[in-house]
Parts: sequence; structure tokens; C-alpha cells
Amino acid sequence: MTVVPVALGERSYDIRIEDGLLNRAAEYLKPYVRGGRLVIVTDSHVETTQLPRLRAGLAAAGIETRVIPLPPGESTKSWAQLEALMDELLALEIERKDHIVALGGGVIGDLVGFAASILKRGCGFVQIPTTLLAQVDSSVGGKTAINTTAGKNLVGAFHQPALVLIDPTSLDTLPRREVGAGYAEVVKYGLIDDPAFFDWCETNGTRLLAGDPEARSYAIEKSVRAKAAIVADDEQERSGRRALLNLGHTFGHALEAETGYGERLLHGEAVAAGMALAFRFSVAQGLCPAEDAERVTAHLRAAGLPASVRDAGVAASGATLVAHMMHDKKMEGGKLPFLLAHGIGQTYLDREVDLAAVTAFLDGEDAAA
Ligand code: NAD
Ligand code: GLY
Repeated sequence: MTVVPVALGERSYDIRIEDGLLNRAAEYLKPYVRGGRLVIVTDSHVETTQLPRLRAGLAAAGIETRVIPLPPGESTKSWAQLEALMDELLALEIERKDHIVALGGGVIGDLVGFAASILKRGCGFVQIPTTLLAQVDSSVGGKTAINTTAGKNLVGAFHQPALVLIDPTSLDTLPRREVGAGYAEVVKYGLIDDPAFFDWCETNGTRLLAGDPEARSYAIEKSVRAKAAIVADDEQERSGRRALLNLGHTFGHALEAETGYGERLLHGEAVAAGMALAFRFSVAQGLCPAEDAERVTAHLRAAGLPASVRDAGVAASGATLVAHMMHDKKMEGGKLPFLLAHGIGQTYLDREVDLAAVTAFLDGEDAAA
């Protein structure tokens, strides 16, 4: 069992990683059981693929479960689903000292975390992430949110989980495309500040994507340790260190907005294209060696991920994409901070990017990429 602590004073918690942990989760969930029962929120895909073994282990330990299954997909992070979930939780007479279990991908984790943050002014929750994206990123760090008509993740709260349980074998039932989307966030940690890990990804990415248990566990642990360190340093994205985790997200959000935040382009796929764009824009600005951007682009494409606007299936102009960026919640006083790079493992936050230069770069991309 690997245990990665997230050091946040009284909000500190552990991330436990082990193959098969879902079957044995009762041991770690026991402290969160009240009145003999545990409430689990999941989605219908995870309900059929992963819930049975979690539930069997809990039943064997004498723990009764109440399950709230929600529809799968990004549209579940909505006001309507939040309201329905709150009503169900209140009907179950959840109290402030209770903990709700979020079993699923980033959609379930973000929604349940937000519900927990406002239910009776804040109750506890436990994350059991079942997608690679959620295991390496969204289940750690306490960002919770829903989407609104104005955009993605615009209503939310920082609310840390009490515990994160990661069972890498739960990825055995995850569709290959979803594994790829999560892999983009793995690569991100190498690109931010760990060039040796990017080298590892270049060598081992294919094994990981094929489900090799050793490569998978190594990448999850590496990613979670990187995220835990950043979150411990800058929990609420104030100093700028946590903002490094947004590498690829500004370009990526524009692509997601253009494709409607759904199946056409998954979040992780948008991040992949966004990271390649951030590196190539950095080259265009004379900040980064061209070879580094070429390595990033080649590796993402080798992993089956999009690495350009065109790869992402988007035909919009630079002006249209930049207009989407202007709705980003990271806008500060009319300026949009960008994550740019001096090279692989040398990402930094640039608050002075000229949006006209971004527009021109994106318009030139079609010919170049
Ligand atoms: P998701 O939760 O929609 O899961 C992807 C798909 O996989 C869904 O259809 C789901 O039902 C299915 N699934 C989940 N686990 C499965 C399993 N083990 N076997 C079979 N199917 C399974 O998507 P995601 O990529 O996990 O998360 C994306 C969301 O995460 C976005 O809303 C994004 O904004 C959010 N996010 C949040 C943070 C954060 O810090 N809070 C960070 C990154 C992304
Ligand atoms: N995924 C970005 C963050 O957690 O800050």
C-alpha cells in the first residue's frame, strides 16, 4: 500500500493507492460509517462495473450502503443534478458529521464534493476515483464545481476530501479513450517541472495505456505525489504555484467550449491539445526550444491524443477561440494569465501575454500543425 499524505494542517488527509483496494476499502471507510451505514454516490457506468466489489466488501464488514446512482457524463455537473442530489441526501437525513462517498470519475467527484461543501453548511466526503483522470488529478486537492450556461466549473468551492482511495485495477473496465484522456494529465506533471518523468512517459506511456499494472501504479503515484506537493504549497491557487496545474487548460477550455463540453472532445483530450499549443506558442514567442515542443507534440500524438486545433476536430478562427478564453474564470483585471514553458519541465505563469499574439498564433497553426 502506498500512502501519500496531503499536508494541509487540520484539513490534511491521506491518499491510499493499492491494486484491489476497492475490495478491501471497508477497513479504511469504517471511521466514516455512522449509524451503521454509508452513502455512496456514483454514476450508472460505475454502478455496474466497480460498485459491486466495493459494496460486497462493505457488506462483509457489516456496513450497510445506500447508493445514489446518477447519469454518466459531463452534463451531470449541473444545477439540476445538484438539486436532485441534495434532495436525496437530505431525505437520507445526512448530518454534518457524516461523510458521503464519491465513487466515479471527475464528474462524480466534482459534483459530490460541491454538494458536500454546501450540505448543512459543509459535511465530509471521501473520494474513490475510478478514472485515470480522477486518480491522478481531480480527486486530490479539493476543487469542486458544477457547470452553468456561462461555462464550465464556474460555480464551486474548495472543499478537501477526508480520504482518497485509489485502486488502479478499477481502470480495467475504463474505455481506452478515457484512459488516454487521463494520460494527458499524467504527462502534464512531467511538462510542469519534472523532465525526467516526461522521459519516463516517452519510454513507458504505451505500456501504461495498455494497462500494464506496474507502469500504471508508478504513474499514478508519481502524479499524486506531484499534485499533493503543489496543493500543500498553494491550496487555493493564491501564490501561483497551483496555477501550474492549469497547463494546457486555457487553450483546452477554448477547444472544449467550441466542441460543446462533451463526447466530441473529452476534457483530457482538450488538455492534451492545449499543452501542445502552449508549447508551440512558447516557441513562437521565442521562449522555448522548438525541439521541446516537437517532442511534446509527437508524444501526445503517439498516445493517440490530439496535439493541435485540427487534431481536436475544431475549425474555428483564432479570434473565436480567444473569445472563448475571455470567459475563463482565471481572467484577472481584463488580462488572462497563460501557462507557458521555457522547455520541458519548465512551465511558468505569464500574466502579460498579448491576446492579439495568441490570435495570430492560432490562425497560423492551421498551416503549421
Ligand atoms: P467522467 O467522470 O465523466 O468519467 C468518464 C466516463 O468513464 C464516464 O462515462 C464514466 O461513467 C465512466 N467511468 C468512470 N469510471 C469507470 C470505470 N472504472 N469503468 C468504466 N467506466 C467508468 O470523466 P473524468 O474524465 O473522470 O472527469 C472529467 C471531469 O473532471 C470534468 O468535469 C473536469 O472538469 C473535472 N476535473 C476536475 C478537476 C479538479 O481538480 N476538481 C481536475 C481535472 C478535471
Ligand atoms: N486540476 C487543477 C487543480 O487541481 O488545481
